[in-house]
Amino acid sequence: MFDEITTFSFPTRIVFGSGAVRRLPACLKEIGVKKPMVVTDPGLRAAPAFAAMISTLEGAGILSEVFDGVHGNPTEEDVTISAAMYRQAGCAGVIGIGGGSAIDVAKAVVVMARHDGRLADLEAQAGGMDRMNGPYDPIIAIPTTAGTGSEVGRSSVITSHELGRKIIIFSPWLMPKRAILDPELTVSLPPFLTAATGMDAFTHCLESLTCPVYHPLCDAIAIHGLELIILYLGRATRDGRDIEARGNMLVAASMGAIAFQKDLGATHSLAHPLSTEFGLHHGLANALCLPAVMRFNLDAAAPHYARLARLYGDDDSNEPENRRAAEAVKMVEAMIERLGINRGLRNHGVPQESLEALAESAFADSCHKTNIRPCTQDDLLRLYRESW
Ligand SMILES: [Fe+2]
Repeated sequence: MFDEITTFSFPTRIVFGSGAVRRLPACLKEIGVKKPMVVTDPGLRAAPAFAAMISTLEGAGILSEVFDGVHGNPTEEDVTISAAMYRQAGCAGVIGIGGGSAIDVAKAVVVMARHDGRLADLEAQAGGMDRMNGPYDPIIAIPTTAGTGSEVGRSSVITSHELGRKIIIFSPWLMPKRAILDPELTVSLPPFLTAATGMDAFTHCLESLTCPVYHPLCDAIAIHGLELIILYLGRATRDGRDIEARGNMLVAASMGAIAFQKDLGATHSLAHPLSTEFGLHHGLANALCLPAVMRFNLDAAAPHYARLARLYGDDDSNEPENRRAAEAVKMVEAMIERLGINRGLRNHGVPQESLEALAESAFADSCHKTNIRPCTQDDLLRLYRESW
């Protein structure tokens, strides 16, 4: 027992509560940023929440540059353009406000403000992580969705059209100095996006809990994250103005991302090519593939899934563990259906004849390497077929 020595840690200061965004000027002062650049997407730029944030900054005498061109799946061009603006304006810190995309671009901006080469030079898989010699200028992350948890994460995922794939940069230097979680900023998120982003957070918690890496802090966080999502995702989806549900979902999404510093699993490997090839929302792609992966993992993950069943309120400890684990899969499926997510990849524009090519891409994705049950490319193909 405990023969292998491991290390684990986690920082990031989180400012949480209704109206927390009004603390932004104080946060900037604490971390010594006088001229920030705000990074966001065009949709949020037009929203009242954005105007309110800018007037809070101006009220405190803080002038900012704004880049509002972030795409849904953020591109290398988004980063190149915003980093050039950042340098030219002499900014010394970045505020990423929006979904995971805006926050991911914000992270890449401070890196590219100091790096003269290409973003791909710094890619984790190509060994570029060693070239990420921070500290970089500080990042403040303000999520307006409750899903990716990028506000507490140390990676940024950017699509390169030139390379035809996603570039993932990863470094502890990418962790935001402050994450501001303000439930009021998420009330206008429509039901579908609430459900889909929430299922991303759910998948983060479940895949990190089951992945075979020793990190008991992350496990505890993942379990509480799952509990919060089970309690509040349905409520947030049904009534966007339910601040209690919105706030708990924001917390759960951050917990999911803290937990997955352990790593993820096969669901994420299946989900990634579905977004790259067919533009599926990342959270939706996870929701569509998760039940099949759970059935595939059933024996290996039985203790975890039995625990999940308890979180859903199935507390019959007289029942054998594998029976409760199987029940948990049905409970997850029922939850996805209650959220109004139309099951089946076939219903989301994924042609059956694409599954083999998708399985090849999914196998090349590294997430499945920490799936609790090892998978081959054929297994991934089977999982796509089952989810189709
Ligand atoms: Fe995810």
